[in-house]
Amino acid sequence: MPEDAPDDLLGGRIEVGEPDAFDAGSVVRPAADEPERAAEAALRPRRLEEFVGQRVVRDQLSLVLEAAMARGRAPDHVLLSGPPGLGKTTLAMIIAAELGASLRVTSGPAIQHAGDLAAVLSSLDEGEVLFIDEIHRLARPAEELLYVAMEDFRVDVVVGKGAGASAIPLSLPPFTVVGATTRAGLLPAPLRDRFGFTGHLDFYADDELERVLVRSAGLLGVPLDAAAASEIASRSRGTPRIANRLLRRVRDWAQVRGDGRLSLDAARSALAVYEVDERGLDRLDRAVLDALCRRFGGGPVGLTTLAVAVGEEPETVETVAEPFLVREGLVGRTPRGRVALPPAWEHLGLAVPAASDTLFG
Ligand SMILES: Nc1ncnc2c1ncn2[C@@H]1O[C@H](COP(=O)(O)OP(=O)(O)OP(=O)(O)O)[C@@H](O)[C@H]1O
Ligand SMILES: [Mg+2]
Repeated sequence: MPEDAPDDLLGGRIEVGEPDAFDAGSVVRPAADEPERAAEAALRPRRLEEFVGQRVVRDQLSLVLEAAMARGRAPDHVLLSGPPGLGKTTLAMIIAAELGASLRVTSGPAIQHAGDLAAVLSSLDEGEVLFIDEIHRLARPAEELLYVAMEDFRVDVVVGKGAGASAIPLSLPPFTVVGATTRAGLLPAPLRDRFGFTGHLDFYADDELERVLVRSAGLLGVPLDAAAASEIASRSRGTPRIANRLLRRVRDWAQVRGDGRLSLDAARSALAVYEVDERGLDRLDRAVLDALCRRFGGGPVGLTTLAVAVGEEPETVETVAEPFLVREGLVGRTPRGRVALPPAWEHLGLAVPAASDTLFG
Protein backbone atom coordinates (compact mmCIF):
# COMPACT_ATOMS: atom_id res chain seq x y z
CA MET A 1 0.00 0.00 0.00
CA PRO A 2 1.41 3.41 -0.85
CA GLU A 3 2.52 5.24 2.25
CA ASP A 4 2.27 8.66 0.68
CA ALA A 5 -0.07 11.25 2.11
CA PRO A 6 -3.01 12.17 -0.14
CA ASP A 7 -1.58 15.55 -1.04
CA ASP A 8 1.23 13.63 -2.68
CA LEU A 9 -1.34 12.55 -5.21
CA LEU A 10 -1.57 16.14 -6.30
CA GLY A 11 2.18 16.67 -6.30
CA GLY A 12 3.34 17.94 -9.67
CA ARG A 13 6.22 15.56 -10.08
CA ILE A 14 4.87 13.65 -13.01
CA GLU A 15 6.48 14.48 -16.26
CA VAL A 16 3.82 13.93 -18.82
CA GLY A 17 4.31 15.55 -22.14
CA GLU A 18 5.76 15.23 -25.59
CA PRO A 19 7.78 12.05 -25.80
CA ASP A 20 10.42 13.84 -27.83
CA ALA A 21 10.95 16.36 -25.10
CA PHE A 22 11.20 13.44 -22.76
CA ASP A 23 14.11 11.75 -24.45
CA ALA A 24 16.29 14.01 -22.36
CA GLY A 25 15.96 11.59 -19.50
CA SER A 26 16.96 8.44 -21.31
CA VAL A 27 20.38 6.92 -21.41
CA VAL A 28 22.02 8.70 -24.31
CA ARG A 29 25.52 9.87 -24.78
CA PRO A 30 26.17 13.24 -23.21
CA ALA A 31 26.64 14.73 -26.68
CA ALA A 32 22.86 14.77 -27.23
CA ASP A 33 21.75 18.38 -26.94
CA GLU A 34 18.54 20.24 -27.66
CA PRO A 35 18.89 20.68 -31.45
CA GLU A 36 20.06 17.08 -31.75
CA ARG A 37 16.94 15.87 -30.03
CA ALA A 38 14.71 17.97 -32.24
CA ALA A 39 16.52 16.61 -35.30
CA GLU A 40 16.01 13.09 -33.99
CA ALA A 41 12.30 13.67 -33.47
CA ALA A 42 11.92 14.85 -37.05
CA LEU A 43 13.33 11.54 -38.33
CA ARG A 44 11.19 9.23 -36.22
CA PRO A 45 9.01 6.82 -38.19
CA ARG A 46 5.35 7.44 -37.28
CA ARG A 47 3.79 4.17 -38.40
CA LEU A 48 4.74 0.52 -38.17
CA GLU A 49 5.22 0.20 -41.92
CA GLU A 50 7.81 3.00 -41.90
CA PHE A 51 9.77 1.31 -39.11
CA VAL A 52 12.83 -0.27 -40.73
CA GLY A 53 14.12 -3.72 -39.77
CA GLN A 54 13.33 -5.69 -36.56
CA ARG A 55 11.04 -7.83 -38.67
CA VAL A 56 10.25 -10.35 -35.95
CA VAL A 57 9.22 -7.78 -33.35
CA ARG A 58 7.32 -5.80 -35.96
CA ASP A 59 5.33 -8.83 -37.12
CA GLN A 60 4.54 -9.93 -33.59
CA LEU A 61 3.52 -6.46 -32.56
CA SER A 62 1.32 -5.90 -35.57
CA LEU A 63 -0.56 -9.11 -34.73
CA VAL A 64 -1.04 -8.02 -31.12
CA LEU A 65 -2.35 -4.63 -32.24
CA GLU A 66 -4.57 -5.86 -35.05
CA ALA A 67 -6.14 -8.54 -32.87
CA ALA A 68 -6.87 -6.04 -30.12
CA MET A 69 -8.41 -3.60 -32.57
CA ALA A 70 -10.56 -6.33 -34.08
CA ARG A 71 -11.83 -7.14 -30.59
CA GLY A 72 -12.30 -3.47 -29.83
CA ARG A 73 -10.22 -3.86 -26.66
CA ALA A 74 -7.02 -2.36 -25.34
CA PRO A 75 -4.12 -4.69 -26.23
CA ASP A 76 -1.98 -6.50 -23.67
CA HIS A 77 0.76 -4.54 -21.98
CA VAL A 78 3.95 -4.38 -24.04
CA LEU A 79 7.53 -4.45 -22.81
CA LEU A 80 10.30 -3.27 -25.15
CA SER A 81 13.88 -4.02 -24.26
CA GLY A 82 17.24 -3.46 -25.90
CA PRO A 83 20.26 -1.17 -26.02
CA PRO A 84 19.84 2.62 -26.44
CA GLY A 85 18.89 4.09 -29.81
CA LEU A 86 17.32 0.99 -31.37
CA GLY A 87 13.75 2.31 -31.47
CA LYS A 88 11.98 1.63 -28.16
CA THR A 89 10.54 5.14 -27.76
CA THR A 90 9.76 5.22 -31.47
CA LEU A 91 7.81 1.94 -31.20
CA ALA A 92 5.90 3.16 -28.15
CA MET A 93 4.74 6.18 -30.14
CA ILE A 94 3.90 3.96 -33.10
CA ILE A 95 1.79 1.65 -30.89
CA ALA A 96 -0.36 4.61 -29.81
CA ALA A 97 -0.58 5.90 -33.39
CA GLU A 98 -1.60 2.50 -34.78
CA LEU A 99 -4.28 2.17 -32.10
CA GLY A 100 -5.43 5.72 -32.71
CA ALA A 101 -4.98 6.23 -28.97
CA SER A 102 -3.37 9.07 -27.11
CA LEU A 103 -0.02 8.54 -25.48
CA ARG A 104 0.97 9.53 -21.97
CA VAL A 105 4.64 9.56 -21.18
CA THR A 106 6.50 9.13 -17.95
CA SER A 107 9.61 7.33 -16.78
CA GLY A 108 10.91 5.32 -13.86
CA PRO A 109 13.14 8.10 -12.50
CA ALA A 110 10.34 10.71 -12.83
CA ILE A 111 8.15 8.73 -10.45
CA GLN A 112 9.54 9.26 -7.00
CA HIS A 113 6.57 8.10 -4.96
CA ALA A 114 3.85 5.53 -5.49
CA GLY A 115 1.41 8.44 -5.20
CA ASP A 116 2.91 10.02 -8.32
CA LEU A 117 2.10 6.89 -10.26
CA ALA A 118 -1.38 6.65 -8.70
CA ALA A 119 -2.06 10.18 -9.92
CA VAL A 120 -1.07 9.32 -13.48
CA LEU A 121 -3.01 6.05 -13.48
CA SER A 122 -6.18 7.53 -12.07
CA SER A 123 -6.22 10.22 -14.73
CA LEU A 124 -5.97 7.79 -17.67
CA ASP A 125 -8.80 7.69 -20.18
CA GLU A 126 -10.10 4.47 -21.64
CA GLY A 127 -7.76 2.94 -24.21
CA GLU A 128 -4.89 5.32 -23.54
CA VAL A 129 -1.32 4.14 -23.87
CA LEU A 130 0.92 4.85 -20.90
CA PHE A 131 4.58 4.82 -21.86
CA ILE A 132 6.96 4.23 -18.95
CA ASP A 133 10.52 4.75 -20.11
CA GLU A 134 13.38 3.25 -18.08
CA ILE A 135 10.82 1.16 -16.25
CA HIS A 136 13.62 -0.73 -14.45
CA ARG A 137 14.26 2.43 -12.44
CA LEU A 138 10.80 2.60 -10.80
CA ALA A 139 10.90 2.65 -7.02
CA ARG A 140 9.67 -0.54 -5.35
CA PRO A 141 6.37 0.84 -3.92
CA ALA A 142 5.50 2.29 -7.35
CA GLU A 143 6.31 -1.05 -8.94
CA GLU A 144 3.92 -2.83 -6.61
CA LEU A 145 1.16 -0.35 -7.34
CA LEU A 146 1.80 -0.86 -11.05
CA TYR A 147 1.39 -4.70 -10.92
CA VAL A 148 -2.08 -4.33 -9.45
CA ALA A 149 -3.06 -1.60 -11.88
CA MET A 150 -1.85 -3.64 -14.85
CA GLU A 151 -3.54 -6.83 -13.76
CA ASP A 152 -6.76 -5.72 -12.09
CA PHE A 153 -7.16 -2.20 -13.50
CA ARG A 154 -7.42 -0.91 -9.99
CA VAL A 155 -5.45 1.51 -7.87
CA ASP A 156 -5.71 1.99 -4.13
CA VAL A 157 -5.93 5.63 -3.20
CA VAL A 158 -4.81 6.27 0.36
CA VAL A 159 -6.87 8.73 2.35
CA GLY A 160 -5.73 10.10 5.68
CA LYS A 161 -2.47 9.60 7.51
CA GLY A 162 -0.98 7.21 10.03
CA ALA A 163 -3.24 4.80 11.91
CA GLY A 164 -6.40 6.42 10.53
CA ALA A 165 -5.36 6.02 6.90
CA SER A 166 -7.50 3.87 4.68
CA ALA A 167 -7.21 2.70 1.11
CA ILE A 168 -10.06 3.36 -1.25
CA PRO A 169 -9.94 1.12 -4.30
CA LEU A 170 -10.48 3.06 -7.49
CA SER A 171 -11.18 1.13 -10.64
CA LEU A 172 -9.44 2.20 -13.81
CA PRO A 173 -10.61 2.05 -17.41
CA PRO A 174 -8.76 -0.45 -19.65
CA PHE A 175 -5.43 0.97 -20.81
CA THR A 176 -2.14 -0.33 -22.12
CA VAL A 177 1.24 0.06 -20.49
CA VAL A 178 4.23 0.18 -22.81
CA GLY A 179 7.40 -0.21 -20.78
CA ALA A 180 10.87 0.40 -22.18
CA THR A 181 14.11 -0.75 -20.65
CA THR A 182 17.76 -1.02 -21.57
CA ARG A 183 18.15 -3.58 -18.80
CA ALA A 184 15.36 -6.14 -18.87
CA GLY A 185 17.35 -8.30 -16.44
CA LEU A 186 16.77 -5.75 -13.69
CA LEU A 187 12.98 -5.99 -13.88
CA PRO A 188 11.58 -8.05 -11.04
CA ALA A 189 9.82 -11.17 -12.30
CA PRO A 190 6.33 -10.18 -11.02
CA LEU A 191 6.48 -6.98 -13.06
CA ARG A 192 7.92 -8.71 -16.13
CA ASP A 193 5.12 -11.29 -15.95
CA ARG A 194 2.44 -8.60 -16.21
CA PHE A 195 3.47 -7.87 -19.79
CA GLY A 196 1.55 -9.95 -22.30
CA PHE A 197 4.11 -9.24 -25.00
CA THR A 198 7.85 -8.60 -24.78
CA GLY A 199 9.74 -7.37 -27.80
CA HIS A 200 13.51 -7.51 -27.68
CA LEU A 201 15.18 -5.12 -30.09
CA ASP A 202 18.52 -6.21 -31.44
CA PHE A 203 21.26 -4.34 -33.29
CA TYR A 204 20.45 -3.63 -36.93
CA ALA A 205 22.18 -5.18 -39.92
CA ASP A 206 24.13 -2.82 -42.17
CA ASP A 207 21.62 -3.04 -45.02
CA GLU A 208 18.81 -2.07 -42.62
CA LEU A 209 20.81 0.93 -41.46
CA GLU A 210 21.33 1.88 -45.09
CA ARG A 211 17.56 1.97 -45.50
CA VAL A 212 17.28 4.12 -42.37
CA LEU A 213 19.88 6.49 -43.84
CA VAL A 214 18.24 6.71 -47.26
CA ARG A 215 14.91 7.47 -45.61
CA SER A 216 16.46 10.12 -43.35
CA ALA A 217 18.42 11.74 -46.19
CA GLY A 218 15.15 11.99 -48.11
CA LEU A 219 13.44 13.69 -45.17
CA LEU A 220 16.40 16.05 -44.72
CA GLY A 221 16.51 16.75 -48.45
CA VAL A 222 20.21 15.95 -48.82
CA PRO A 223 21.72 13.99 -51.73
CA LEU A 224 23.25 10.78 -50.34
CA ASP A 225 25.37 8.52 -52.57
CA ALA A 226 24.87 4.78 -52.18
CA ALA A 227 28.56 4.26 -51.33
CA ALA A 228 28.33 6.91 -48.62
CA ALA A 229 25.19 5.30 -47.18
CA SER A 230 26.97 2.00 -46.95
CA GLU A 231 30.07 3.57 -45.38
CA ILE A 232 28.01 5.41 -42.73
CA ALA A 233 25.91 2.31 -42.04
CA SER A 234 28.96 0.17 -41.43
CA ARG A 235 30.21 2.64 -38.82
CA SER A 236 26.91 3.09 -36.98
CA ARG A 237 27.29 0.32 -34.40
CA GLY A 238 24.10 -1.35 -35.53
CA THR A 239 22.13 1.62 -34.15
CA PRO A 240 19.70 3.86 -36.08
CA ARG A 241 20.18 6.78 -33.69
CA ILE A 242 23.91 6.72 -34.39
CA ALA A 243 23.33 6.32 -38.14
CA ASN A 244 21.13 9.42 -38.16
CA ARG A 245 23.61 11.34 -36.05
CA LEU A 246 26.53 10.47 -38.31
CA LEU A 247 24.42 11.38 -41.33
CA ARG A 248 23.95 14.88 -39.91
CA ARG A 249 27.69 15.21 -39.23
CA VAL A 250 28.51 14.14 -42.79
CA ARG A 251 25.96 16.65 -44.05
CA ASP A 252 27.72 19.37 -42.01
CA TRP A 253 31.05 18.41 -43.52
CA ALA A 254 29.64 18.33 -47.05
CA GLN A 255 28.09 21.76 -46.63
CA VAL A 256 31.13 23.44 -45.12
CA ARG A 257 34.08 21.68 -46.73
CA GLY A 258 32.54 19.83 -49.67
CA ASP A 259 30.06 20.60 -52.43
CA GLY A 260 26.94 19.68 -50.44
CA ARG A 261 26.84 16.17 -51.86
CA LEU A 262 27.14 13.29 -49.37
CA SER A 263 29.73 11.28 -51.28
CA LEU A 264 31.96 8.45 -50.06
CA ASP A 265 34.79 10.92 -49.74
CA ALA A 266 32.67 13.33 -47.69
CA ALA A 267 31.59 10.46 -45.43
CA ARG A 268 35.15 9.27 -44.81
CA SER A 269 36.49 12.76 -44.21
CA ALA A 270 33.66 13.71 -41.85
CA LEU A 271 33.92 10.50 -39.85
CA ALA A 272 37.67 11.03 -39.49
CA VAL A 273 36.99 14.50 -38.06
CA TYR A 274 34.53 13.04 -35.54
CA GLU A 275 36.91 10.21 -34.62
CA VAL A 276 34.55 7.42 -35.57
CA ASP A 277 36.76 4.55 -36.72
CA GLU A 278 36.16 1.94 -39.45
CA ARG A 279 34.41 -0.38 -37.02
CA GLY A 280 32.23 2.48 -35.78
CA LEU A 281 33.92 2.64 -32.41
CA ASP A 282 33.90 6.09 -30.87
CA ARG A 283 35.91 7.64 -28.08
CA LEU A 284 34.09 5.86 -25.24
CA ASP A 285 34.34 2.47 -26.93
CA ARG A 286 38.04 2.94 -27.59
CA ALA A 287 38.60 4.23 -24.06
CA VAL A 288 37.02 1.04 -22.70
CA LEU A 289 39.19 -1.18 -24.91
CA ASP A 290 42.25 0.87 -24.14
CA ALA A 291 41.70 0.65 -20.37
CA LEU A 292 41.00 -3.08 -20.59
CA CYS A 293 44.12 -3.88 -22.61
CA ARG A 294 46.68 -1.31 -21.52
CA ARG A 295 45.74 -0.67 -17.91
CA PHE A 296 44.34 -3.99 -16.83
CA GLY A 297 46.39 -6.28 -19.06
CA GLY A 298 43.26 -7.65 -20.76
CA GLY A 299 41.31 -8.25 -17.54
CA PRO A 300 39.29 -9.72 -16.02
CA VAL A 301 38.27 -6.43 -14.46
CA GLY A 302 35.03 -5.49 -12.70
CA LEU A 303 32.55 -3.15 -14.36
CA THR A 304 32.86 -0.46 -11.69
CA THR A 305 36.65 -0.36 -11.85
CA LEU A 306 36.50 -0.20 -15.63
CA ALA A 307 33.95 2.63 -15.50
CA VAL A 308 36.12 4.63 -13.11
CA ALA A 309 39.10 4.13 -15.42
CA VAL A 310 37.22 5.70 -18.36
CA GLY A 311 35.52 8.37 -16.22
CA GLU A 312 31.96 7.18 -16.85
CA GLU A 313 29.05 5.81 -14.84
CA PRO A 314 28.99 1.98 -14.69
CA GLU A 315 25.48 2.06 -16.19
CA THR A 316 26.72 4.04 -19.21
CA VAL A 317 29.56 1.61 -19.83
CA GLU A 318 27.24 -1.35 -19.35
CA THR A 319 24.30 -0.18 -21.48
CA VAL A 320 25.92 2.13 -24.04
CA ALA A 321 29.38 0.78 -24.87
CA GLU A 322 29.45 -2.81 -23.76
CA PRO A 323 26.59 -4.48 -25.67
CA PHE A 324 28.14 -3.57 -29.00
CA LEU A 325 31.70 -4.44 -27.93
CA VAL A 326 30.45 -7.82 -26.75
CA ARG A 327 28.49 -8.42 -29.94
CA GLU A 328 31.54 -7.55 -32.02
CA GLY A 329 33.61 -10.10 -30.13
CA LEU A 330 35.96 -7.45 -28.76
CA VAL A 331 35.02 -7.81 -25.11
CA GLY A 332 33.90 -10.86 -23.16
CA ARG A 333 31.97 -11.10 -19.92
CA THR A 334 33.15 -13.69 -17.44
CA PRO A 335 32.05 -14.33 -13.86
CA ARG A 336 35.25 -12.59 -12.74
CA GLY A 337 34.75 -9.50 -14.87
CA ARG A 338 35.28 -8.08 -18.36
CA VAL A 339 38.06 -9.40 -20.55
CA ALA A 340 39.61 -8.17 -23.78
CA LEU A 341 39.31 -10.74 -26.58
CA PRO A 342 42.02 -11.08 -29.25
CA PRO A 343 40.29 -8.75 -31.79
CA ALA A 344 40.39 -5.97 -29.17
CA TRP A 345 44.18 -6.10 -29.02
CA GLU A 346 44.37 -6.23 -32.79
CA HIS A 347 42.01 -3.27 -33.12
CA LEU A 348 44.31 -1.19 -30.92
CA GLY A 349 47.32 -2.36 -32.92
CA LEU A 350 48.73 -4.33 -29.98
CA ALA A 351 50.13 -7.84 -29.90
CA VAL A 352 47.68 -10.39 -28.51
CA PRO A 353 49.15 -11.76 -25.28
CA ALA A 354 49.60 -15.51 -25.14
CA ALA A 355 47.34 -15.95 -22.09
CA SER A 356 44.49 -14.34 -23.95
CA ASP A 357 45.09 -16.78 -26.81
CA THR A 358 44.84 -19.83 -24.62
CA LEU A 359 41.80 -18.52 -22.77
CA PHE A 360 39.74 -17.62 -25.81
CA GLY A 361 41.64 -18.58 -28.95
N1 LIG B 1 13.49 1.00 -37.04
C1 LIG B 1 13.79 2.28 -37.25
N2 LIG B 1 13.62 2.82 -38.46
C2 LIG B 1 13.95 4.11 -38.69
N3 LIG B 1 14.45 4.93 -37.74
C3 LIG B 1 14.63 4.44 -36.52
C4 LIG B 1 14.30 3.10 -36.21
N4 LIG B 1 14.57 2.88 -34.91
C5 LIG B 1 15.07 4.03 -34.42
N5 LIG B 1 15.10 4.97 -35.39
C6 LIG B 1 15.62 6.33 -35.23
O1 LIG B 1 16.56 6.31 -34.17
C7 LIG B 1 16.25 7.31 -33.22
C8 LIG B 1 16.37 6.72 -31.83
O2 LIG B 1 15.31 5.82 -31.60
P1 LIG B 1 14.56 5.76 -30.16
O3 LIG B 1 14.57 7.09 -29.52
O4 LIG B 1 13.23 5.14 -30.40
O5 LIG B 1 15.51 4.77 -29.39
P2 LIG B 1 15.33 4.16 -27.91
O6 LIG B 1 15.42 2.68 -28.09
O7 LIG B 1 14.12 4.70 -27.27
O8 LIG B 1 16.65 4.68 -27.18
P3 LIG B 1 16.88 4.98 -25.59
O9 LIG B 1 17.09 3.65 -24.93
O10 LIG B 1 18.13 5.80 -25.60
O11 LIG B 1 15.69 5.73 -25.10
C9 LIG B 1 14.85 7.82 -33.54
O12 LIG B 1 14.83 9.20 -33.55
C10 LIG B 1 14.54 7.31 -34.93
O13 LIG B 1 14.64 8.36 -35.86
MG1 LIG C 1 13.90 6.01 -25.67
